[in-house]
Amino acid sequence: MSSTVSVFKPDVFAGKVAFVTGGGSGICYGIVKQLMAHGCNAAIFGRRQKNIEDAAAALSKDTGKKCIGISGDVRKLDTLQEAIKRTVAEFGRIDFVVAGAAGNFLSPLAGLSANAFKTVLEIDTLGTYHTFKATIDELCKTKGSILAISATLHYTATPLQAHVSAAKAGVDALIKVIGVEYGPRGVRANIIAPGPIAGTEGMDRLMPKELVAEHTRAIPLQTYGSIDDIAQAATFLFSPGAKYITATTLVVDGGSWHTSQSV
Ligand code: HXC
Repeated sequence: MSSTVSVFKPDVFAGKVAFVTGGGSGICYGIVKQLMAHGCNAAIFGRRQKNIEDAAAALSKDTGKKCIGISGDVRKLDTLQEAIKRTVAEFGRIDFVVAGAAGNFLSPLAGLSANAFKTVLEIDTLGTYHTFKATIDELCKTKGSILAISATLHYTATPLQAHVSAAKAGVDALIKVIGVEYGPRGVRANIIAPGPIAGTEGMDRLMPKELVAEHTRAIPLQTYGSIDDIAQAATFLFSPGAKYITATTLVVDGGSWHTSQSV
């Protein structure tokens, strides 16, 4: 992860616990690393058991805090419920939830089977709902916060991304309703919409290398973002500095979606 000097107090999350789906790699790995670097313990959840356990060990080693890796599939509510039981047994509480597990590939509608469309909706939208469902009782106890990792694809009509655009629009709508319904219980719910972020599986899959230079010139801030840019934004949204922010989206894209047709 490229690193920026943190503007947050190193112990701002002391005593807190994070639960992060998709935390074994990419953007969500970067988020959980930043949260742990600011004092919290964490559980990360992903499909591949060895990967998630190795990632948890690396996060513990790098930050000096404790991370456990739990395998499961966000499409299966029971695997998330089991993971939450393990997390609470290990750490006693959950304060921060990141719904980050996602699936993506480029496909024109003409090449997209019904099962392919459904698969991405099940990972992204249903998976976010399952993550909420499995964690909300714990968040109500701690007056915690949930954060979904969405996208900007659906702000315009992005070709080859109908499935992900539909899925992320659903994620955005769901999170805003969670924010409204659970605000009175002290729970905040927000969205980060990353733009083009270098070094992620999403960008590797979606952006042909020969188009990178042209694409970069179209971004107002003239560069791709880093995983750390997203992690810093997440740190802010979980911090007390964001205590009056709920049911909203923080777009972290260098201004990209205003000027860019694709990602
Ligand atoms: C067309 C495809 C396809 C492709 C899979 N399918 N890949 N269709 N083009 N490239 C179809 C399959 O043929 C199948 O339909 C259906 O999708 C399910 O595929 P499976 O491989 O059986 O599903 P599964 O093993 O669950 O894999 C899920 C996946 C996979 C989404 C398809 O690619 C995945 O998990 N990817 C890794 C996660 C990932 O990409 N993360 C980065 C997300 S980035 P049929 O009809 O044949 O049964 C992101 C950010 C977005 O989300 C914003 C970017 C800026």
